[in-house]
Amino acid sequence: MITIQADNYPVYIGKYSLTALGEFLVSNFYSKIFIMVDENTCKYCLPDLIIKVPKLEKAEIIETESGEDNKSIEVCVQIWKAMTELGADRKSLLINLGGGVISDMGGFAASVFKRGMDYINLPTTLLSMVDASVGGKTGLNLDNQKNQVGTFSNPKAVFIYPPFLNSLKENHFVSGFAEVAKHALIADNEYWEAIKKLHPLDADEEKVISRSVEIKNNIVSQDPDEKGLRKILNFGHTVGHAIESFFLETGNPVEHGEAIAAGMFCEAFLSYKISGLKHTQLDEICNFLLKNFSVFDPSSIEPIRLLELMQHDKKNESGIMLFSLIEKPGAAVFNVKVSSEMVLQSIEFYKMRAALVQSGN
Ligand SMILES: NC(=O)c1ccc[n+]([C@@H]2O[C@H](COP(=O)([O-])OP(=O)(O)OC[C@H]3O[C@@H](n4cnc5c(N)ncnc54)[C@H](O)[C@@H]3O)[C@@H](O)[C@H]2O)c1
Ligand SMILES: [Zn+2]
Repeated sequence: MITIQADNYPVYIGKYSLTALGEFLVSNFYSKIFIMVDENTCKYCLPDLIIKVPKLEKAEIIETESGEDNKSIEVCVQIWKAMTELGADRKSLLINLGGGVISDMGGFAASVFKRGMDYINLPTTLLSMVDASVGGKTGLNLDNQKNQVGTFSNPKAVFIYPPFLNSLKENHFVSGFAEVAKHALIADNEYWEAIKKLHPLDADEEKVISRSVEIKNNIVSQDPDEKGLRKILNFGHTVGHAIESFFLETGNPVEHGEAIAAGMFCEAFLSYKISGLKHTQLDEICNFLLKNFSVFDPSSIEPIRLLELMQHDKKNESGIMLFSLIEKPGAAVFNVKVSSEMVLQSIEFYKMRAALVQSGN
């Protein structure tokens, strides 16, 4: 088992992480334990968890419906009501057993319930193992706008048990691989060289998960409140979140990682135009993204609407669009001003390459 000390909480990675969870529960006296699941983690992960950690047999289960459109204040109200009816108090513990939707929403629900109760994350998707479960950002979408409401609130601990990934569908696996690639591109060229050769379905290895957690944690611990450096974790996310919001609006939510892959495509183009990424490096990144991620139908993407959505991005200051870009694989910069024209060009670049893929070229 690998243990990484995050800000002020441990992250346990490996098949013995559930033993560490058992010990954590013994050494902390919680008045009541709640486990938040969705229908998939209830079916595929909860039974295994209870066998491995018998102390959880008596935990109260709160089940929400899966899906990004359920990461909402309405569902959160139901969680607070359920916890209240089941007698939760400030000495209770909430366990988030699920992907990023569960950890973002459960973390938020816990961070304000009775002014804050303890929570821990047990991520069950690759994306939540390598990214969403660490870093202390919690949040909800509001009217299709991603993560519009949220808090910075750290879990008491994170337990990453890779065998949970055995039941994960391939598209969800691939989605998590986008964040793995992002970590490599913003912080570690050697890791990028290794990731380039890796098949997404092989990213469940402990060493991949732990390197990604390490990179995220190194960045977050230097800037927990996202005043500066932490913004580099948003590489691919300015355009990516706009794509996600756009498809949420049209009633066809897409995977977070798929949107981020398209976002990195556009933002690699911006990096080439603005922050010194070489043409060969741009090509290499685009080819990697096209090899591993499916493309969105270019005719379904409306660049002007995407631009409007980006203008709501939380990273903007005084209405100026600020991006996190890369100078080369392994080195990122933040607070880069980008004009609307350039953003539109980057989306057109994506649409053009996506059209080529669709026509079989
Ligand atoms: N807080 C952060 O720092 C941060 C970082 C990255 C992403 N996020 C957020 O994470 C969310 C995306 O997370 P996600 O990709 O994990 O999506 P998700 O939580 O929607 O999970 C994807 C799907 O997989 C199912 N599932 C989960 N675990 C499973 C398992 N072991 N077996 C079978 N099915 C399983 C879920 O029910 C769901 O249908 C987005 O809302 C994004 O904004 C947050
Ligand atoms: Zn992300």
